[in-house]
Amino acid sequence: MSKFSNDFLWGGAIAANQSEGAWNIDGKGMSVADVSMYKPNIDVKDYSMQWHVGIDDIKKAMQTKDTVYYPKRRGIDFYHRYKEDIKLFAEMGFKTLRISIAWTRIFPNGDEDKPNEYGLKFYEEVFKELKKYSIEPLVTLSHYEMPLYLVNNYDGWVSREVVDMFVKFSKVCFERYKDLVKYWLTFNEIDSIFRHPFITAGIVEEKYSNKKEVEEIIYQALHHQFVASSLATKYAHKIIEDSKVGCMITKLLTYPETCNPLDIYLSQSDNRNNMFYSDVQVFGEYPKHILNYMKRNNINIIMKEGDEEIIRQYTVDFVSFSYYMSMVQSIEADKREKVGGNVATGIKNPYLKTSDWGWQIDPIGLKISLIELYDRYRLPLWIVENGLGAYDKIEENGCIEDNYRIEYLTEHLKQVAEAIEEGVECIGYTSWGCIDIISAATSQMSKRYGFIYVDSDDLGNGTYNRKRKKSFYWYKKVIESNGENL
Ligand code: BG6
Repeated sequence: MSKFSNDFLWGGAIAANQSEGAWNIDGKGMSVADVSMYKPNIDVKDYSMQWHVGIDDIKKAMQTKDTVYYPKRRGIDFYHRYKEDIKLFAEMGFKTLRISIAWTRIFPNGDEDKPNEYGLKFYEEVFKELKKYSIEPLVTLSHYEMPLYLVNNYDGWVSREVVDMFVKFSKVCFERYKDLVKYWLTFNEIDSIFRHPFITAGIVEEKYSNKKEVEEIIYQALHHQFVASSLATKYAHKIIEDSKVGCMITKLLTYPETCNPLDIYLSQSDNRNNMFYSDVQVFGEYPKHILNYMKRNNINIIMKEGDEEIIRQYTVDFVSFSYYMSMVQSIEADKREKVGGNVATGIKNPYLKTSDWGWQIDPIGLKISLIELYDRYRLPLWIVENGLGAYDKIEENGCIEDNYRIEYLTEHLKQVAEAIEEGVECIGYTSWGCIDIISAATSQMSKRYGFIYVDSDDLGNGTYNRKRKKSFYWYKKVIESNGENL
């Protein structure tokens, strides 16, 4: 018998900025993603350099219409091909599709009074198309693509005014899609603001004088996102009767290297910090350890009167997260071999294999994470990202034999089944990049996650035709059997 509930939400996930393309048509404004460059000369494992965007980079990007070295501008042309793509998702039996709405399609600069009808219409058509196949949309309001105008004119999320603009955008979406979308996420990987403040919150680090100041303004911007997220949750519940709103974090599970209590304590601190964000959004208050940390380090942020009450009152209905890898902490970290990751760096775990991008593959870590999160929050969990980025090869017979992907996903899904068996309430699984899209960190096209191959290379050459990989047929069977066929 299947461990997955009969209404388990099987599906896949993509984001607007990595898939849609059509970056400057139908009234769309420029977003932070349109400034992200493909940097072939920088090591794909050097994440801080891959993510880095400075003042000159913004200026340069604003002066060009290039789509070769700005791959998120072209995506995989989901904007024009969404019908074909959704048909393929339906063929696999998807029950759900996670997508995001590009804020800049609805409010090109962010501070307009009236939304852009072309943008609203586009997503309405997409949601209707999903409905045609009974695919439930799961929609992220902010997935790495705030309006660039708000960066240049308001300092991104550091500015309080951006809260109101985001809430206005959210309300417009809830009103327009209230009959089409029930499941919403406010911010993708809200914790990522510390790893890449530009793409997550429009913060240009070089505008600030030192590291301490940068840290302080990140806490400020994060506070604004917490308030905005709570207000969006409030309005979703008000406008859409049966809506469910989730928070979304990067699940970063950290193991101690040894049983030395100092290692245990270090890893505990990392895990605790990783859950700070969902703690706020689930429990409705800042954890004491974070408030103490801010005090100790003289980090002063402005919390307006009423903010605490807003955060307390409008908490989330479910917890969602991405999971790709686990990490290891040690008091001897300086002396150990390091590994990379989109999310953080840590030391090598000798028990795990790494992907070509240095991510440590750890299926059991997914079970541990599910149990940990469920025991902590007692709310339904939804794995909204998981998958293997890999180089795919088209064989002479035209097939793409992505057995490594099938193996990765099988091992992770087996652990999800075991966690459910152990009492965890997991309501859905949307594997990341169910169709090949542009990588968030490296802007490569060749880092592929999909069940569906897209004929395009790192410089955008190709027909953009879609092709089913071996994993396409495998996932179809998994869904058909409701996870029994793993
Ligand atoms: C998550 C992001 O951090 O990781 C996605 O939410 C991203 O947008 C995914 O694509 C995988 O990272 P990458 O760099 O391999 O695309």
